[in-house]
Amino acid sequence: MKGVILAGGSGTRLHPLTRITNKHLLPIYDRPMVTYAIEALVDCDIRELMVVTGGTHAGEFLRLLGNGHEWGIDRLSYAYQERAGGIAEALGLAERFAGGDPIVVMLADNVLENSIAHAVSNFRDQGTGARILLSPENDPEHLRHLGVPQLDGDRVVRILEKPAEPPSNFAVTGIYFYESAVFEIIPELAPSGRGELEITDVNNWFIDRGTMEYDVLEGFWGDAGESIDAYYAVNDFVRANGANKP
Ligand code: DAU
Repeated sequence: MKGVILAGGSGTRLHPLTRITNKHLLPIYDRPMVTYAIEALVDCDIRELMVVTGGTHAGEFLRLLGNGHEWGIDRLSYAYQERAGGIAEALGLAERFAGGDPIVVMLADNVLENSIAHAVSNFRDQGTGARILLSPENDPEHLRHLGVPQLDGDRVVRILEKPAEPPSNFAVTGIYFYESAVFEIIPELAPSGRGELEITDVNNWFIDRGTMEYDVLEGFWGDAGESIDAYYAVNDFVRANGANKP
């Protein structure tokens, strides 16, 4: 399994901080945000990674990560996203890197308290299709800013992106597992109302085919790019409790 870390986008919700750097290079406690996603994957022994980024500060990733060895990466590739065309568009840039292998995708603004090793192992057992990680969330106002699954027993029947009426008390986190067929779907997607290729449309494609599974995360999950308050909430959590614990 290879790993794809998505660190593009425009970061407008963290302006003006993101006028002078890329969002994923901002500090979370004592190191740049993107290194938490790297650590989450490397700790699961996923050591062949691609970082997709864009904008005027893309070169700083090279300065921070270099060839990746210092961060436990065996082979680090980079891709450049020309414009913030959406998470699914950014993922599409990793097609040749994936080379037919299954992948785990992680948004570089997501920070986790605990290891995702169990989900990696579950997707290896699953073998095909896709898998998402859900995080319990009881605040409907928060859910209105996220992807939210509609559940029927142990099946996800739909994911709604930023729903006015959240259909469950779970957030879809920015960690996704896919078989290589994911790269055949992306060129078929149409841009959403916000002009982006949506990862939720990719996930609903797998749901429609009955090949989407999920795990529920235990412990803290944060999207540090959601707002300045979310950014500081993630900082506070990591400073007090750490991250990516085994
Ligand atoms: O964090 C979880 C949420 O992430 C999910 O619940 C949503 O279903 C999913 O759509 C996504 O929502 P956001 O509104 O938080 O996505 P955002 O536009 O902030 O992008 C998240 C990350 O994806 C960003 O930190 C870097 C990467 N990205 C995003 C865009 C739009 C790219 O690499 N390229 C892009 O063009």
